[in-house]
Amino acid sequence: MRLLQPCRYNGPMSSTQILSADTAGIATAAALLRAGELVAFPTETVYGLGGDALRPSAVAAIFAAKGRPASDPLIVHLASPDDLPRVTVSVPPVAERLATAFWPGPLTLVLPRAPNVPLAVTAGGPTVAVRLPAHPVARALIAAAGSPIAAPSANRFGHTSPTSAAHVLADLDGRIAAVVDGGPTPIGVESTVLDLSTPVPTLLRPGGVSLEALRELLGEVALGSRASPKETMRSPGLLERHYAPESALWLVVGPTDPARAWLRTEAEADLAAGRTVGLLVPDEDAALFAGLGAAIEPLGPADDHAAIARRLYAALRALDARAPGRILARDFGTSGLARALRDRLARAAAGRVVLLQGLTRQD
Ligand code: TXA
Ligand code: MG
Repeated sequence: MRLLQPCRYNGPMSSTQILSADTAGIATAAALLRAGELVAFPTETVYGLGGDALRPSAVAAIFAAKGRPASDPLIVHLASPDDLPRVTVSVPPVAERLATAFWPGPLTLVLPRAPNVPLAVTAGGPTVAVRLPAHPVARALIAAAGSPIAAPSANRFGHTSPTSAAHVLADLDGRIAAVVDGGPTPIGVESTVLDLSTPVPTLLRPGGVSLEALRELLGEVALGSRASPKETMRSPGLLERHYAPESALWLVVGPTDPARAWLRTEAEADLAAGRTVGLLVPDEDAALFAGLGAAIEPLGPADDHAAIARRLYAALRALDARAPGRILARDFGTSGLARALRDRLARAAAGRVVLLQGLTRQD
C-alpha cells in the first residue's frame, strides 16, 4: 500500500477560487499567502499576482504561473513604510520624501535590496522595487499576510494587464490558488517606477504618479529610455510584446485633426479591402466614426486621461476579442497621465507608430 503524503502541487490546478473582498475573503486569501500559495488581488492600478516575497518557492511559482522570464524583476508590496527595513538596506532621504508625498499610491521606488530578499525577486540585481498600494483590499491583505508581497501584474507574460477579476481568470484560471474580486481597479494603468539608485532619480516607467508631480517635489528627474516618449516609440525593446493584443495595433501620434484624418483613411482602406478594423479612440472620435463599419471601443472623453486610463486595458481586451484585422489607436500627448497612456499604447503597437509630423512610419 502506498502512503499518501501531503505535497505541494506544482502543476496546473483544477480551478482558481474567487474570493469576495470582505473580511472573510481577505482572511482566506491571507491564509493562502501565508501557506506559500499565489493569490491575485486588486490594487489601485491593476490586479497583482501576489506571493510571499521572502519565500523563494512562492517567488518561483509567480514566475511559473505568469510564464515570465527570470530576468524581469518583481515589485514588492508593503502594508506600511515601517516594513521598508525588511526589504531594503537603506532608505535615502529622497525616498522618505517621496513616500510621505505619494504613499500609499501608484509609485514604485527602486532601492538597495536587503540580503533576505530572494535574488529571484530582483532578477539577481542589487536593487529591489517597492511600493505601498493605496487600494484598501490590497492593504488589508498584505497586512493580514504579515509578509512583504511580491506582485507583478496578474496576466500571462506579454498580455495586457488585468483591471478586473474576470481579466485575471481569463489569463490565470487554474494556475493560481485564488483571486480576490474587488471590482474594477480605479487607476487602470500600472504604477510609476522611479529608480533611486542612480545619481539623479530616473523614471523607468511612467504611470499613476505623473512626471510633473515628481519634478515638482524633486526638481530634476531623468528619463530612462522607456520613459522618454520618443525612445518608447522608437525602441520598444526586449519586452515589446508587453501589453500587446493579438491583433496588430497601430498608434497614430500628432495633432487631433490630422490624426483623425489618418484614422479615417486607414480604416476606410481596410474596410474597402474587405478587412475588419478596430478603433481604440476617445468618445469624440467614436461618435465621428460611428457610421464607418469599424469595431469601436470608446475610451472616454479625449481630455479626461484618468477616465481613459481606467478603461484602456478593458477596451483593448474587448476589441482584441473581436479579432479585427488590425486595431488603430490615437495618442493623447505627454502631459500627466497621458505619458503613461502613450507608453502603454506604443508598447502595444510594438513599433507600429505613425508620427504625423516629420512622418516616420515604422514596421
Ligand atoms: O502598478 C503596478 O506596479 C502593478 C501592481 C500589481 O502593483 N505591478 C506591476 O508589476 O506592474 P510588473 O511586474 O508587471 O511590472 C514591474 C515593473 C517591470 O517593468 C520591472 O522590470 C520593473 O517594474 N522592476 C521591478 N524591479 C525592478 C528593479 N529592481 N529595478 C528596475 N526595475 C524594476
Ligand atoms: Mg506587468
